[in-house]
Amino acid sequence: MHTKIAIALFLFVAPAALAGCAPQDGEPADPGLVGCDVPVLPDLDPAPGVVEVDLVADETPWSIAAGVDVPGFAYEGQVPGPMIVVDAGSTLRVHFRNDLDTMPTTVHWHGLRVPDTQDGVPMIMNPVQPGGTFEYEFVVPDPGFYWYHPHMSSDLTIDKGLYGLLWVRDPAGEPQASCDLPVALDDVTITSAGTVREPGMHDRMTGSIGSTLLANGRADRRVEVRPGAWVLLRMVNVANARYFDLAFDGGPFTVLGTDGGWLEDPYETERLVVAPSERYVVAVKADGLPGDELALVTYREPVHPGGSDPLGPGPNTVMRLLLSGDPASEPAPVPPTVALPAWDPAPASLAHTWVLDQEMMSLTIDGASWPDVPMVSVPGNQLTYFGVRNDAPGRHPFHLHGQRFQVVAADGVPETRRAWKDSVDVPAGTTLTIASELDNPGHWMLHCHINEHGEDGMMAELEVTP
Ligand code: C2O
Ligand code: CU
Repeated sequence: MHTKIAIALFLFVAPAALAGCAPQDGEPADPGLVGCDVPVLPDLDPAPGVVEVDLVADETPWSIAAGVDVPGFAYEGQVPGPMIVVDAGSTLRVHFRNDLDTMPTTVHWHGLRVPDTQDGVPMIMNPVQPGGTFEYEFVVPDPGFYWYHPHMSSDLTIDKGLYGLLWVRDPAGEPQASCDLPVALDDVTITSAGTVREPGMHDRMTGSIGSTLLANGRADRRVEVRPGAWVLLRMVNVANARYFDLAFDGGPFTVLGTDGGWLEDPYETERLVVAPSERYVVAVKADGLPGDELALVTYREPVHPGGSDPLGPGPNTVMRLLLSGDPASEPAPVPPTVALPAWDPAPASLAHTWVLDQEMMSLTIDGASWPDVPMVSVPGNQLTYFGVRNDAPGRHPFHLHGQRFQVVAADGVPETRRAWKDSVDVPAGTTLTIASELDNPGHWMLHCHINEHGEDGMMAELEVTP
Protein backbone atom coordinates (compact mmCIF):
# COMPACT_ATOMS: atom_id res chain seq x y z
CA MET A 1 0.00 0.00 0.00
CA HIS A 2 2.86 2.36 0.83
CA THR A 3 4.21 2.30 -2.69
CA LYS A 4 0.78 2.83 -4.17
CA ILE A 5 0.25 5.86 -2.01
CA ALA A 6 3.65 7.20 -2.86
CA ILE A 7 2.83 6.72 -6.53
CA ALA A 8 -0.55 8.35 -6.16
CA LEU A 9 0.86 11.33 -4.35
CA PHE A 10 3.50 11.65 -7.01
CA LEU A 11 0.81 11.44 -9.68
CA PHE A 12 -1.14 14.05 -7.86
CA VAL A 13 1.79 16.38 -8.40
CA ALA A 14 2.25 15.26 -12.00
CA PRO A 15 -1.17 14.06 -13.12
CA ALA A 16 -0.23 13.98 -16.81
CA ALA A 17 1.67 10.80 -16.06
CA LEU A 18 -1.57 9.15 -15.00
CA ALA A 19 -2.53 7.96 -18.46
CA GLY A 20 0.43 5.59 -18.46
CA CYS A 21 -0.57 3.95 -15.18
CA ALA A 22 -1.38 0.24 -15.37
CA PRO A 23 -5.05 -0.44 -14.60
CA GLN A 24 -5.88 -2.56 -11.55
CA ASP A 25 -7.94 -5.72 -11.98
CA GLY A 26 -11.47 -4.87 -12.98
CA GLU A 27 -10.82 -1.14 -13.11
CA PRO A 28 -11.18 0.79 -16.34
CA ALA A 29 -7.90 2.01 -17.84
CA ASP A 30 -8.44 5.53 -16.58
CA PRO A 31 -11.13 5.54 -13.88
CA GLY A 32 -10.63 9.23 -13.20
CA LEU A 33 -11.70 10.10 -16.75
CA VAL A 34 -15.41 10.76 -17.16
CA GLY A 35 -17.91 12.73 -19.22
CA CYS A 36 -19.92 15.67 -17.96
CA ASP A 37 -22.63 13.58 -16.28
CA VAL A 38 -22.58 12.59 -12.65
CA PRO A 39 -24.63 9.68 -11.28
CA VAL A 40 -28.20 10.71 -10.39
CA LEU A 41 -30.45 8.99 -7.82
CA PRO A 42 -33.31 7.33 -9.71
CA ASP A 43 -36.78 8.80 -9.13
CA LEU A 44 -38.97 5.91 -7.93
CA ASP A 45 -42.25 7.82 -8.31
CA PRO A 46 -43.35 8.46 -11.90
CA ALA A 47 -45.85 11.15 -10.81
CA PRO A 48 -44.91 14.68 -11.85
CA GLY A 49 -44.15 17.02 -8.99
CA VAL A 50 -42.75 14.25 -6.77
CA VAL A 51 -39.24 12.87 -6.62
CA GLU A 52 -38.89 9.77 -4.46
CA VAL A 53 -35.50 8.23 -3.80
CA ASP A 54 -33.80 5.58 -1.69
CA LEU A 55 -30.66 6.69 0.09
CA VAL A 56 -28.34 4.48 2.14
CA ALA A 57 -25.31 5.61 4.12
CA ASP A 58 -22.73 2.87 4.48
CA GLU A 59 -19.05 2.14 4.98
CA THR A 60 -17.38 1.37 1.73
CA PRO A 61 -13.97 1.41 0.05
CA TRP A 62 -13.38 4.79 -1.58
CA SER A 63 -11.26 4.79 -4.70
CA ILE A 64 -9.38 8.09 -4.59
CA ALA A 65 -7.01 7.47 -7.48
CA ALA A 66 -5.90 4.50 -9.59
CA GLY A 67 -4.76 1.90 -7.08
CA VAL A 68 -5.60 3.99 -4.01
CA ASP A 69 -8.62 2.63 -2.15
CA VAL A 70 -9.22 3.90 1.35
CA PRO A 71 -11.92 2.89 3.85
CA GLY A 72 -14.62 5.51 3.45
CA PHE A 73 -18.20 6.41 4.24
CA ALA A 74 -20.57 6.96 1.34
CA TYR A 75 -24.15 7.45 0.25
CA GLU A 76 -25.14 4.67 -2.16
CA GLY A 77 -21.54 3.47 -2.18
CA GLN A 78 -20.37 6.55 -4.09
CA VAL A 79 -18.40 9.67 -3.27
CA PRO A 80 -19.99 12.09 -3.81
CA GLY A 81 -23.38 10.51 -3.20
CA PRO A 82 -25.49 10.41 -6.37
CA MET A 83 -27.04 13.75 -7.23
CA ILE A 84 -30.68 14.30 -6.32
CA VAL A 85 -32.36 16.23 -9.12
CA VAL A 86 -35.67 17.89 -8.42
CA ASP A 87 -37.64 20.80 -9.90
CA ALA A 88 -38.27 23.78 -7.65
CA GLY A 89 -41.79 23.48 -6.24
CA SER A 90 -41.75 19.68 -6.28
CA THR A 91 -41.91 17.34 -3.30
CA LEU A 92 -38.84 15.34 -2.39
CA ARG A 93 -39.36 12.08 -0.50
CA VAL A 94 -36.24 10.28 0.72
CA HIS A 95 -36.29 6.78 2.20
CA PHE A 96 -33.10 6.94 4.21
CA ARG A 97 -31.35 4.00 5.86
CA ASN A 98 -28.27 4.13 8.05
CA ASP A 99 -26.03 1.14 7.37
CA LEU A 100 -22.99 2.62 9.10
CA ASP A 101 -21.57 0.04 11.52
CA THR A 102 -21.68 2.05 14.72
CA MET A 103 -22.48 5.70 14.08
CA PRO A 104 -25.90 7.29 14.41
CA THR A 105 -26.46 9.86 11.69
CA THR A 106 -28.89 12.31 10.10
CA VAL A 107 -29.18 13.83 6.64
CA HIS A 108 -29.09 17.62 6.46
CA TRP A 109 -30.23 19.26 3.21
CA HIS A 110 -27.75 22.09 3.18
CA GLY A 111 -29.36 25.35 2.06
CA LEU A 112 -32.88 24.04 1.42
CA ARG A 113 -35.67 25.89 3.20
CA VAL A 114 -37.43 22.80 4.53
CA PRO A 115 -39.51 22.40 7.72
CA ASP A 116 -37.19 22.14 10.72
CA THR A 117 -38.46 18.61 11.46
CA GLN A 118 -36.94 17.56 8.10
CA ASP A 119 -33.70 19.53 8.46
CA GLY A 120 -31.67 16.60 9.79
CA VAL A 121 -30.31 18.16 12.95
CA PRO A 122 -30.12 15.96 16.05
CA MET A 123 -31.43 18.82 18.20
CA ILE A 124 -34.85 18.29 16.59
CA MET A 125 -34.96 14.79 15.14
CA ASN A 126 -33.78 11.62 16.80
CA PRO A 127 -30.58 10.43 15.19
CA VAL A 128 -31.02 7.47 12.86
CA GLN A 129 -29.30 4.58 14.63
CA PRO A 130 -27.24 2.00 12.72
CA GLY A 131 -29.73 -0.22 10.92
CA GLY A 132 -32.46 2.41 11.37
CA THR A 133 -34.47 4.33 8.81
CA PHE A 134 -36.10 7.73 8.44
CA GLU A 135 -38.38 9.15 5.82
CA TYR A 136 -37.74 12.75 4.87
CA GLU A 137 -40.43 14.57 2.93
CA PHE A 138 -40.68 18.22 2.02
CA VAL A 139 -41.36 20.67 -0.77
CA VAL A 140 -38.24 22.12 -2.34
CA PRO A 141 -38.85 25.84 -2.78
CA ASP A 142 -35.82 27.49 -4.38
CA PRO A 143 -33.82 26.68 -7.50
CA GLY A 144 -30.10 26.38 -6.86
CA PHE A 145 -27.25 24.00 -6.31
CA TYR A 146 -27.22 22.39 -2.88
CA TRP A 147 -25.75 19.40 -1.11
CA TYR A 148 -26.60 16.90 1.60
CA HIS A 149 -24.48 15.60 4.46
CA PRO A 150 -24.76 14.29 8.04
CA HIS A 151 -25.21 16.75 10.88
CA MET A 152 -23.49 14.54 13.43
CA SER A 153 -19.72 14.07 13.76
CA SER A 154 -19.60 16.00 10.53
CA ASP A 155 -15.86 16.66 10.85
CA LEU A 156 -15.27 12.90 10.59
CA THR A 157 -18.16 11.70 8.45
CA ILE A 158 -17.99 14.34 5.71
CA ASP A 159 -14.21 14.01 5.56
CA LYS A 160 -14.58 10.27 5.01
CA GLY A 161 -16.86 10.83 2.03
CA LEU A 162 -20.39 11.16 3.35
CA TYR A 163 -21.75 13.96 1.17
CA GLY A 164 -23.90 14.20 -1.94
CA LEU A 165 -25.07 16.71 -4.54
CA LEU A 166 -28.54 18.16 -4.91
CA TRP A 167 -29.67 20.19 -7.89
CA VAL A 168 -32.97 22.07 -7.75
CA ARG A 169 -33.87 22.94 -11.33
CA ASP A 170 -35.34 26.28 -12.17
CA PRO A 171 -38.78 26.09 -13.84
CA ALA A 172 -37.89 29.42 -15.51
CA GLY A 173 -35.19 27.51 -17.43
CA GLU A 174 -31.61 26.52 -16.76
CA PRO A 175 -28.65 27.96 -18.65
CA GLN A 176 -27.73 25.63 -21.50
CA ALA A 177 -24.19 24.39 -22.09
CA SER A 178 -23.00 21.23 -23.83
CA CYS A 179 -21.19 20.33 -20.61
CA ASP A 180 -23.20 20.80 -17.41
CA LEU A 181 -20.87 19.57 -14.69
CA PRO A 182 -21.65 19.43 -10.97
CA VAL A 183 -18.40 19.34 -8.98
CA ALA A 184 -17.75 18.66 -5.30
CA LEU A 185 -14.44 20.27 -4.33
CA ASP A 186 -12.76 18.43 -1.46
CA ASP A 187 -9.46 17.56 0.15
CA VAL A 188 -8.23 14.71 2.33
CA THR A 189 -4.99 13.55 3.82
CA ILE A 190 -4.10 9.92 3.17
CA THR A 191 -2.08 8.40 6.01
CA SER A 192 0.82 6.01 5.53
CA ALA A 193 -1.58 3.29 6.71
CA GLY A 194 -3.78 3.97 3.67
CA THR A 195 -6.66 5.63 5.51
CA VAL A 196 -8.21 9.07 5.49
CA ARG A 197 -6.52 10.90 8.33
CA GLU A 198 -9.24 11.56 10.88
CA PRO A 199 -9.59 15.04 12.35
CA GLY A 200 -8.17 15.18 15.87
CA MET A 201 -7.20 17.58 18.62
CA HIS A 202 -4.50 19.20 16.48
CA ASP A 203 -7.19 20.25 13.98
CA ARG A 204 -9.51 21.94 16.41
CA MET A 205 -8.31 25.45 15.73
CA THR A 206 -7.08 25.22 12.16
CA GLY A 207 -9.50 22.65 10.77
CA SER A 208 -7.99 19.83 8.74
CA ILE A 209 -6.41 21.02 5.54
CA GLY A 210 -5.89 17.97 3.32
CA SER A 211 -2.83 17.25 1.20
CA THR A 212 -4.75 15.64 -1.66
CA LEU A 213 -7.27 17.65 -3.65
CA LEU A 214 -10.37 15.89 -4.94
CA ALA A 215 -12.94 16.69 -7.59
CA ASN A 216 -16.02 14.49 -7.29
CA GLY A 217 -14.17 12.16 -4.96
CA ARG A 218 -11.00 11.60 -6.99
CA ALA A 219 -7.52 13.06 -7.15
CA ASP A 220 -7.10 12.18 -10.84
CA ARG A 221 -10.34 13.64 -12.11
CA ARG A 222 -10.40 14.48 -15.81
CA VAL A 223 -13.53 15.36 -17.74
CA GLU A 224 -13.86 14.99 -21.48
CA VAL A 225 -15.35 18.01 -23.23
CA ARG A 226 -15.49 19.11 -26.84
CA PRO A 227 -13.07 21.83 -27.95
CA GLY A 228 -14.82 25.18 -27.86
CA ALA A 229 -17.62 23.92 -25.58
CA TRP A 230 -19.07 25.99 -22.80
CA VAL A 231 -18.80 24.25 -19.47
CA LEU A 232 -21.17 25.06 -16.66
CA LEU A 233 -19.44 24.25 -13.39
CA ARG A 234 -21.84 23.87 -10.50
CA MET A 235 -19.40 23.86 -7.63
CA VAL A 236 -19.73 23.15 -3.93
CA ASN A 237 -16.88 23.19 -1.45
CA VAL A 238 -17.42 20.13 0.76
CA ALA A 239 -13.97 20.25 2.37
CA ASN A 240 -13.78 20.39 6.16
CA ALA A 241 -11.73 23.56 6.27
CA ARG A 242 -9.98 24.37 3.00
CA TYR A 243 -10.93 27.56 1.22
CA PHE A 244 -10.51 27.05 -2.52
CA ASP A 245 -9.07 30.05 -4.37
CA LEU A 246 -9.80 28.92 -7.91
CA ALA A 247 -8.47 29.86 -11.31
CA PHE A 248 -8.97 28.21 -14.70
CA ASP A 249 -6.31 27.68 -17.35
CA GLY A 250 -8.64 28.47 -20.19
CA GLY A 251 -9.78 31.96 -19.16
CA PRO A 252 -11.98 33.74 -16.65
CA PHE A 253 -14.99 32.40 -14.79
CA THR A 254 -18.35 33.96 -15.58
CA VAL A 255 -20.21 33.75 -12.29
CA LEU A 256 -23.90 33.08 -12.93
CA GLY A 257 -25.24 31.95 -9.56
CA THR A 258 -24.56 31.54 -5.86
CA ASP A 259 -25.86 29.26 -3.10
CA GLY A 260 -29.57 29.78 -3.65
CA GLY A 261 -30.11 31.09 -7.17
CA TRP A 262 -29.05 33.29 -10.05
CA LEU A 263 -27.35 36.65 -9.98
CA GLU A 264 -29.01 39.68 -11.49
CA ASP A 265 -25.77 40.60 -13.22
CA PRO A 266 -23.35 37.76 -14.02
CA TYR A 267 -19.74 38.92 -13.76
CA GLU A 268 -16.33 37.76 -14.90
CA THR A 269 -13.45 37.04 -12.59
CA GLU A 270 -10.03 35.41 -12.90
CA ARG A 271 -10.06 34.14 -9.31
CA LEU A 272 -12.91 32.83 -7.22
CA VAL A 273 -12.68 32.06 -3.51
CA VAL A 274 -15.12 29.36 -2.43
CA ALA A 275 -15.45 28.97 1.34
CA PRO A 276 -16.45 25.64 2.90
CA SER A 277 -20.11 24.86 2.08
CA GLU A 278 -20.53 27.75 -0.39
CA ARG A 279 -21.73 27.10 -3.93
CA TYR A 280 -21.00 28.93 -7.16
CA VAL A 281 -22.35 28.25 -10.64
CA VAL A 282 -19.87 29.51 -13.22
CA ALA A 283 -19.36 29.19 -16.96
CA VAL A 284 -15.95 28.61 -18.54
CA LYS A 285 -15.04 28.07 -22.18
CA ALA A 286 -12.99 25.03 -23.14
CA ASP A 287 -10.99 26.63 -25.95
CA GLY A 288 -8.17 24.62 -27.45
CA LEU A 289 -7.33 21.66 -29.64
CA PRO A 290 -8.22 18.01 -29.22
CA GLY A 291 -5.79 16.51 -26.71
CA ASP A 292 -5.30 19.76 -24.82
CA GLU A 293 -5.92 19.76 -21.09
CA LEU A 294 -7.22 22.75 -19.18
CA ALA A 295 -6.78 22.71 -15.42
CA LEU A 296 -8.96 24.03 -12.64
CA VAL A 297 -6.40 25.05 -10.03
CA THR A 298 -6.42 26.43 -6.53
CA TYR A 299 -4.07 28.64 -4.56
CA ARG A 300 -3.30 28.76 -0.86
CA GLU A 301 -6.02 30.66 0.94
CA PRO A 302 -5.25 30.21 4.62
CA VAL A 303 -7.86 30.08 7.35
CA HIS A 304 -5.52 31.92 9.71
CA PRO A 305 -3.15 34.70 8.66
CA GLY A 306 0.07 32.96 7.66
CA GLY A 307 -1.65 29.57 8.05
CA SER A 308 0.09 26.70 6.34
CA ASP A 309 -1.06 24.48 3.51
CA PRO A 310 0.58 21.10 2.92
CA LEU A 311 0.32 21.88 -0.78
CA GLY A 312 2.22 25.16 -0.60
CA PRO A 313 1.17 28.36 -2.31
CA GLY A 314 -0.06 26.68 -5.52
CA PRO A 315 -1.30 26.66 -8.15
CA ASN A 316 -2.40 23.06 -7.46
CA THR A 317 -4.61 21.13 -9.84
CA VAL A 318 -8.12 20.25 -8.67
CA MET A 319 -9.23 18.64 -11.95
CA ARG A 320 -8.68 18.88 -15.67
CA LEU A 321 -10.84 19.24 -18.74
CA LEU A 322 -9.59 17.01 -21.55
CA LEU A 323 -10.55 18.40 -24.95
CA SER A 324 -11.65 15.69 -27.32
CA GLY A 325 -14.02 15.04 -30.19
CA ASP A 326 -15.59 17.42 -32.70
CA PRO A 327 -15.37 21.12 -32.00
CA ALA A 328 -18.46 22.65 -30.44
CA SER A 329 -19.79 26.03 -31.39
CA GLU A 330 -22.45 27.31 -29.05
CA PRO A 331 -23.52 30.52 -27.38
CA ALA A 332 -22.46 31.27 -23.82
CA PRO A 333 -24.94 29.94 -21.25
CA VAL A 334 -27.41 32.54 -19.98
CA PRO A 335 -29.28 32.18 -16.69
CA PRO A 336 -32.91 33.28 -16.33
CA THR A 337 -33.43 36.93 -15.50
CA VAL A 338 -34.05 37.52 -11.82
CA ALA A 339 -34.66 40.56 -9.65
CA LEU A 340 -33.51 40.35 -6.05
CA PRO A 341 -34.99 42.66 -3.45
CA ALA A 342 -32.78 45.66 -2.70
CA TRP A 343 -32.46 45.88 1.06
CA ASP A 344 -31.01 48.60 3.25
CA PRO A 345 -27.20 48.39 3.57
CA ALA A 346 -27.37 50.56 6.70
CA PRO A 347 -30.41 49.34 8.65
CA ALA A 348 -31.48 51.38 11.67
CA SER A 349 -31.37 48.36 13.93
CA LEU A 350 -30.18 44.78 14.03
CA ALA A 351 -32.25 42.02 15.63
CA HIS A 352 -29.01 40.50 16.94
CA THR A 353 -25.29 40.43 16.23
CA TRP A 354 -23.61 37.05 16.56
CA VAL A 355 -20.01 37.36 17.68
CA LEU A 356 -17.66 34.61 16.53
CA ASP A 357 -14.58 34.26 18.65
CA GLN A 358 -11.91 31.96 19.89
CA GLU A 359 -10.95 31.63 23.51
CA MET A 360 -8.11 29.64 25.05
CA MET A 361 -9.08 26.26 23.67
CA SER A 362 -12.59 26.77 22.48
CA LEU A 363 -14.50 28.36 19.66
CA THR A 364 -17.43 30.47 20.65
CA ILE A 365 -20.50 32.35 19.52
CA ASP A 366 -21.62 35.16 21.82
CA GLY A 367 -19.03 34.10 24.36
CA ALA A 368 -20.12 30.48 24.77
CA SER A 369 -19.78 27.13 23.04
CA TRP A 370 -22.74 25.07 21.83
CA PRO A 371 -24.93 23.92 23.52
CA ASP A 372 -24.42 26.78 25.99
CA VAL A 373 -24.89 29.62 23.50
CA PRO A 374 -28.07 31.54 24.41
CA MET A 375 -30.81 30.99 21.82
CA VAL A 376 -31.91 34.03 19.83
CA SER A 377 -35.64 34.28 19.14
CA VAL A 378 -37.17 36.60 16.55
CA PRO A 379 -40.59 36.89 14.92
CA GLY A 380 -40.78 35.45 11.41
CA ASN A 381 -42.23 36.64 8.13
CA GLN A 382 -40.67 40.06 8.22
CA LEU A 383 -37.51 41.57 6.87
CA THR A 384 -34.91 41.25 9.62
CA TYR A 385 -31.30 42.39 9.79
CA PHE A 386 -28.53 40.65 11.73
CA GLY A 387 -24.87 41.27 12.29
CA VAL A 388 -22.20 38.57 12.14
CA ARG A 389 -18.99 39.81 13.73
CA ASN A 390 -15.75 37.87 13.67
CA ASP A 391 -13.51 38.78 16.60
CA ALA A 392 -11.32 35.71 16.11
CA PRO A 393 -7.88 35.76 14.47
CA GLY A 394 -8.97 33.43 11.65
CA ARG A 395 -11.83 33.48 9.16
CA HIS A 396 -15.02 31.47 9.61
CA PRO A 397 -17.58 30.39 7.00
CA PHE A 398 -20.95 31.21 8.59
CA HIS A 399 -23.96 29.05 7.68
CA LEU A 400 -27.60 29.61 8.64
CA HIS A 401 -30.15 26.81 8.26
CA GLY A 402 -33.69 27.14 7.00
CA GLN A 403 -33.55 30.67 5.57
CA ARG A 404 -31.94 32.43 2.66
CA PHE A 405 -30.23 35.73 3.23
CA GLN A 406 -28.42 38.51 1.45
CA VAL A 407 -25.24 40.13 2.65
CA VAL A 408 -26.08 43.84 2.51
CA ALA A 409 -22.85 45.28 3.91
CA ALA A 410 -19.39 44.34 5.15
CA ASP A 411 -18.01 46.67 7.83
CA GLY A 412 -20.70 49.13 6.80
CA VAL A 413 -19.64 49.15 3.13
CA PRO A 414 -22.68 48.33 1.01
CA GLU A 415 -22.53 45.07 -0.94
CA THR A 416 -23.18 45.94 -4.56
CA ARG A 417 -23.73 42.41 -5.84
CA ARG A 418 -27.05 41.08 -4.60
CA ALA A 419 -27.02 37.30 -4.17
CA TRP A 420 -28.95 34.63 -2.26
CA LYS A 421 -26.71 33.01 0.30
CA ASP A 422 -26.93 30.47 3.08
CA SER A 423 -23.18 30.28 3.68
CA VAL A 424 -20.71 33.13 3.65
CA ASP A 425 -17.11 33.75 4.60
CA VAL A 426 -16.62 36.11 7.53
CA PRO A 427 -13.03 37.37 7.41
CA ALA A 428 -11.18 38.00 10.68
CA GLY A 429 -12.06 41.37 12.17
CA THR A 430 -15.06 41.86 9.89
CA THR A 431 -18.73 42.45 10.62
CA LEU A 432 -21.22 41.42 7.98
CA THR A 433 -24.73 42.79 7.92
CA ILE A 434 -27.15 40.20 6.57
CA ALA A 435 -30.85 40.43 5.85
CA SER A 436 -33.53 37.78 5.56
CA GLU A 437 -37.30 37.71 5.27
CA LEU A 438 -37.31 34.79 7.75
CA ASP A 439 -40.29 33.22 6.02
CA ASN A 440 -39.57 29.73 7.33
CA PRO A 441 -40.50 29.61 11.02
CA GLY A 442 -38.83 26.99 13.19
CA HIS A 443 -35.67 26.23 15.10
CA TRP A 444 -32.54 26.70 13.05
CA MET A 445 -28.89 26.03 13.60
CA LEU A 446 -26.27 28.52 12.62
CA HIS A 447 -22.62 27.60 12.77
CA CYS A 448 -19.18 27.76 11.34
CA HIS A 449 -18.83 25.33 8.43
CA ILE A 450 -15.25 24.52 9.20
CA ASN A 451 -16.54 21.21 10.47
CA GLU A 452 -14.05 20.95 13.32
CA HIS A 453 -15.23 24.37 14.53
CA GLY A 454 -18.92 23.53 14.31
CA GLU A 455 -18.38 20.26 16.18
CA ASP A 456 -16.25 22.07 18.70
CA GLY A 457 -19.06 24.44 19.64
CA MET A 458 -19.06 27.31 17.16
CA MET A 459 -22.76 26.70 16.71
CA ALA A 460 -25.93 28.41 17.90
CA GLU A 461 -29.69 28.29 17.52
CA LEU A 462 -32.10 30.80 16.04
CA GLU A 463 -35.80 30.49 16.77
CA VAL A 464 -38.07 32.06 14.18
CA THR A 465 -41.59 32.26 15.59
CA PRO A 466 -44.59 32.09 13.25
CU1 C2O B 1 -23.85 22.07 5.75
CU2 C2O B 1 -25.40 22.89 9.45
O1 C2O B 1 -24.64 22.43 7.57
CU1 CU C 1 -14.76 28.46 12.06
